Amino acid sequence: LTLSAELSKLIMTAPLNLRDEVERNCKGFQTLFDQYMGERGTKISWDKIRPPPAGSIVPHATVAAGEPKAASELSVPLSKLAVLKLNGGLGTSMGCVGPKSVISVRNDLTFLDLCVRQIEHLNDSYGTTVPLVLMNSFNTHDDTQKVLRKYKKTEVKVFNQSQYPRILKETLQPLPKNTDNSDEDWYPPGHGDLYRSFYDSGLLQELLDDGKEWVFISNIDNLGATVDEDILRYVTRPGNDCEFVMEVTDKTRADVKGGTLIEYEGRIRLLEVAQVPKDHEEDFKSVTKFRVFNTNNLWINLHAIKRLVEEESLHMEVIENKKTLDDGRVIIQLEQAVGSAIKNFNGAIGINVPRSRFLPVKKTSDLLLVMSNLYQLRHGTLSMNASRLFDSVPLIKLGDHFKKVKDFLRRFENIPDILELDHLTVSGDVKFGKNVILRGTVIIIAQENDSIDIPQGSVLENKIVTGNLRI
Ligand code: UTP
Repeated sequence: LTLSAELSKLIMTAPLNLRDEVERNCKGFQTLFDQYMGERGTKISWDKIRPPPAGSIVPHATVAAGEPKAASELSVPLSKLAVLKLNGGLGTSMGCVGPKSVISVRNDLTFLDLCVRQIEHLNDSYGTTVPLVLMNSFNTHDDTQKVLRKYKKTEVKVFNQSQYPRILKETLQPLPKNTDNSDEDWYPPGHGDLYRSFYDSGLLQELLDDGKEWVFISNIDNLGATVDEDILRYVTRPGNDCEFVMEVTDKTRADVKGGTLIEYEGRIRLLEVAQVPKDHEEDFKSVTKFRVFNTNNLWINLHAIKRLVEEESLHMEVIENKKTLDDGRVIIQLEQAVGSAIKNFNGAIGINVPRSRFLPVKKTSDLLLVMSNLYQLRHGTLSMNASRLFDSVPLIKLGDHFKKVKDFLRRFENIPDILELDHLTVSGDVKFGKNVILRGTVIIIAQENDSIDIPQGSVLENKIVTGNLRI
């Protein structure tokens, strides 16, 4: 059977009340699949890659200097803004079930709690009603709805992204046989799905009708992605002909994954590692050739989104994400990245922002940082403790014993003082007592069958602890 015949069969298995939705999803998937088949094997031509044209990546300081600062004026730009968080992802990489956004990150507050507090504070300060919007996936929708009830003051608007069938790598046939199959058979197709789902949900139009003109989009797990006043003033200034801003930041050798901005065939474009030919992967990691990477903090004009969706002229590269299921079958998910749409917008630029606007929590080592005294929390916003002598954050590597949030929390009686830490490596069965202070470079390695307990109140400064050595 062809894919379209398989999809038609799938649509017929849906209960009547869900049929339209399943049909819309299958249609969207078919379009993505056709694009994938058409473009498969067309690799980017390395020789055509140019550095982004002069002026297309603007330093944040330039933007900040250009705009008038009167605080009272901010309520006007704010009245044109909606804040959108990408909330389709699960917390599985940190060993949690349910949406990532409901993991507690600081003072028992979750990612979502922090977002809501920030928006509340903003609205209270300027007398505005900036709406918070969540893009959920079928994986996160129900659990998110349950927690949203607790926010009495802030209305959180939600819409769901698409639900597409996984396909078998060998045969390219869809995995689900009917719509009541397990969620394992389906996937959310990456955050690039935002444009169409936002439009189809009716929420894009609702915001436009409310006088909103710009949306600030970011990953919900990026705790640095607060509403930046200077960028907001910049994008909403009269006569601005830029429809899309991507916040980028200087790349360090540790940042090997994020996409970078290039010029390709005369347009600014996002280059992701998945698009890089194997023999150029090392070039891609270079911090001198590709100086910045995408933080996924994006400011996009709502009228422009509407226009491009209606014209059906949004092109985003298809990312093939291969996975092996528990039963050994290999499947592929076809995905798209929201930032890769940059090339479709007029006057798109990158703004080079300070690193502090990129504070993602992907692993428990990130959690250690944001829970610690390295950061201070005010009105839902984390900022680096002013007593820290350097701007950089410590490099932390925690072994597999710390991988799951539950285990991580069990292994620290409380979070150590890391104000003066540069580098921490912990491996094996290690536990930390209360009020431990870590300074400089600290390496703690418990060999297999050994365990190390760091006693309460220990001060470890430039120390290596191995085996069952006690301090
Ligand atoms: P990703 O999983 O894409 O993170 O989610 P990443 O930073 O690109 O890559 P990893 O985690 O290092 O592998 C980024 C944001 O996009 C949301 C997630 O919830 C997260 O906030 N997301 C991702 C969606 O909303 N929908 C998707 O289909 C995928």
